[in-house]
Amino acid sequence: MRFTLPRDLYHGEGALEALKTFTGKKAMVCVGGGSMKRFGFLDKVISYLKEAGMEVELFEGIEPDPSVETVMRGAEAMLKFEPDWIVAIGGGSPIDAAKAMWIKYEYPECTFEDMCKVFGIPPLRRKAHFCAISSTSGTATEVTAFSIITDYQKGIKYPIADFEITPDVAIVDPALAETMPKKLVAHTGMDAITHAIEAYVSTANCDYTDPLALHAIEMIQADLVDSYNGDMAKRHSMHNAQCLAGMAFSNALLGIVHSMAHKTGAAFADHGAHIIHGAANAMYLPKVIAFNAKDETAKKRYGVIADYMNLGGKDDDEKVALLIAYLRKMNDDLNIPHCIKNYGADSYPTENGFVPEEVFLERLPEIAKNAIGDACTGSNPRIPSQEEMEKLLKCCYYDTEVDF
Ligand SMILES: NC(=O)c1ccc[n+]([C@@H]2O[C@H](COP(=O)([O-])OP(=O)(O)OC[C@H]3O[C@@H](n4cnc5c(N)ncnc54)[C@H](O)[C@@H]3O)[C@@H](O)[C@H]2O)c1
Ligand SMILES: [Zn+2]
Repeated sequence: MRFTLPRDLYHGEGALEALKTFTGKKAMVCVGGGSMKRFGFLDKVISYLKEAGMEVELFEGIEPDPSVETVMRGAEAMLKFEPDWIVAIGGGSPIDAAKAMWIKYEYPECTFEDMCKVFGIPPLRRKAHFCAISSTSGTATEVTAFSIITDYQKGIKYPIADFEITPDVAIVDPALAETMPKKLVAHTGMDAITHAIEAYVSTANCDYTDPLALHAIEMIQADLVDSYNGDMAKRHSMHNAQCLAGMAFSNALLGIVHSMAHKTGAAFADHGAHIIHGAANAMYLPKVIAFNAKDETAKKRYGVIADYMNLGGKDDDEKVALLIAYLRKMNDDLNIPHCIKNYGADSYPTENGFVPEEVFLERLPEIAKNAIGDACTGSNPRIPSQEEMEKLLKCCYYDTEVDF
């Protein structure tokens, strides 16, 4: 088994200044639509890299849930500029896009299809090293071996997975997380707890990943709702907690909550919205726990999580029920709906969500098939059949009980 993390991780307030100590000639800074510029972080990154003696070029405007086309454009810009450092700053979207650009930059003949072969990326770092600076507290992509790219023609999110794309340097500076709007805190925070819980019950869990997952869960339980309500000390703590969860899942892998989130996220984009990654996870996690708990080993492990969270319960069945109830309460506290039917185009709970019932039912078989085929399904403690996945997704649509 292999356990891989970035070579260096700088954390705590002021960690961004580590950029001043980098050695290299040319840095390509990859960034999203404007929040990092607006809050002054991008200027800091540029001036620190210049202080380190590097020539800097920007690749700006990477959209949320980045597309294959954006990846290809970024790689072209890299091939022109020839950086020896790729520095990605922002949420999961710009960092993930930059990771995929990095592959294409090092191997221009590599197609998107090639990239999606799980653990099939050839050796990188022939041309450039990679530094990731996260501004959201959820994906932990700054420490993970994953990148999620959306194929908008198919309406599907594809995970690229290989330790080759684990960044060389991660910068986890809590100052960047302070400017997150509440909704982003909620969604990314629930993404993080899903990472930790899925990693802990994953069939690829091990002694190295378990303590990271459990500690992350305890921290998120203590910090997330307060961070959402504006407590900045807790906001800082969440930035570390999500990163610990990332260290766990990058090595222990995930499960079908993520498979389902990947395959539903963009599936109804033609009806006006995405189901935001973290919100999808928040809605599906309690359902998947009920489904997975039919597996004895998984049930025991959920029991351990419940114990760490001090939820009570006299046996594992009770503990699983209390864990599910606790997570649902978190959704309520964070203004996240419980099911797709009640998911509004603005992501808030509403009577009639943006995904019409008949459209959901019509697309269900295809979505279920795609979810089973997702790279995250293989490490789930219970492998669902097509029929079970369809039933599970229906429970996620209607918020009905999982009893199979
Ligand atoms: N690579 C992985 O391991 C992994 C894991 C989970 C999810 N993902 C993927 O990551 C993407 C989601 O990333 P995300 O949740 O970090 O959001 P994001 O990067 O998509 O950003 C969402 C929005 O928040 C804004 N924003 C980011 N940081 C901000 C800040 N500090 N202050 C104010 N605004 C800010 C951005 O400009 C953007 O408009 C999805 O595509 C998801 O599938 C990747
Ligand atoms: Zn996630």
